[in-house]
Amino acid sequence: MNKIIDGKKVRDERKEKLMEEIKKLKEKLTLVDISVGDDAASKVYVSQKEKMALEVGYNFLNLHYDKIEEDKLIEKIEELNNDENITGIIVQLPLPSYLNKDRILNTVSVDKDVDGLTRENLTRLVKKEKSLIPCTPKGVMTLLESYHIDLIGKKIVIVGRSELVGLPLFHLLLNKDATVTLCHSKTKDLKSYTKNADILIVAVGKKSLITSDMVKPGSVLIDVGINRVDNKLYGDIESSSIEVASLMTPVPGGVGPMTVISLMENVLEAYKARKNK
Ligand SMILES: NC(=O)c1ccc[n+]([C@@H]2O[C@H](COP(=O)([O-])OP(=O)(O)OC[C@H]3O[C@@H](n4cnc5c(N)ncnc54)[C@H](OP(=O)(O)O)[C@@H]3O)[C@@H](O)[C@H]2O)c1
Repeated sequence: MNKIIDGKKVRDERKEKLMEEIKKLKEKLTLVDISVGDDAASKVYVSQKEKMALEVGYNFLNLHYDKIEEDKLIEKIEELNNDENITGIIVQLPLPSYLNKDRILNTVSVDKDVDGLTRENLTRLVKKEKSLIPCTPKGVMTLLESYHIDLIGKKIVIVGRSELVGLPLFHLLLNKDATVTLCHSKTKDLKSYTKNADILIVAVGKKSLITSDMVKPGSVLIDVGINRVDNKLYGDIESSSIEVASLMTPVPGGVGPMTVISLMENVLEAYKARKNK
């Protein structure tokens, strides 16, 4: 039996559907990515987004600054907020430490916040109101839905509570009537939680944090972690855990592809929401 949750396959299906919708639009949508500094991983992520954006039929504007004053950056974002031709704005993280991340992220207009990282979009998500959902959590939800994984009343354990991944996922899953536990670096006896999880989602960034003895037999394992060791990518869950589980995402090829397609879907959603205002 195939136990792999194939993120690439789901991504390709979603991409095809999205492109059909985009083709019907009378105007071309534009996604702007703002990056500051020289983070090597960011450069790879920006080029992946650019590639996918162009493939699905969006314009992609890459605004890169080696260095920029915070007030100047805020002014630039405000200008983009007011520009009718711009559909979505991403501020690439991490930002250099001299910049106030929260102030900058929260300057992005809530309607154009296609990364779903503004305070307002997070509040809407918690309150079950319509919002732009952060891309990785949205991608995880899409994978669970695509594989018809029942969530109601299920014991779900998330390891990692970041505002980017774990925290939004906690609310998304709670909103679907799952019983959700959120673990983090101060959690004592992590195994006592993971071992009882019907669905285990790990977003930490530590290779092999979860070993096969920490997994409940027959459970569903979603590995968000990306760890590069000797130029090879690994997740946070030891790959041998698939023998114990019923389904598992691989790394690479699981959650990763879903993040980028979710961003592309958010651009179309942002456009539609503004049109219907
Ligand atoms: N596949 C994708 O598209 C995608 C997208 C985003 C991120 N990622 C990957 O996902 C991972 C997490 O990303 P992130 O941005 O959420 O990272 P992050 O902001 O560094 O958060 C890591 C979380 O893990 C928790 N943690 C650290 N050590 C732990 C331990 N020993 N036991 C339990 N919890 C522990 C931390 O707890 P505290 O809160 O107590 O510090 C924190 O909540 C990274 O590998 C990242 O590269 C992948």
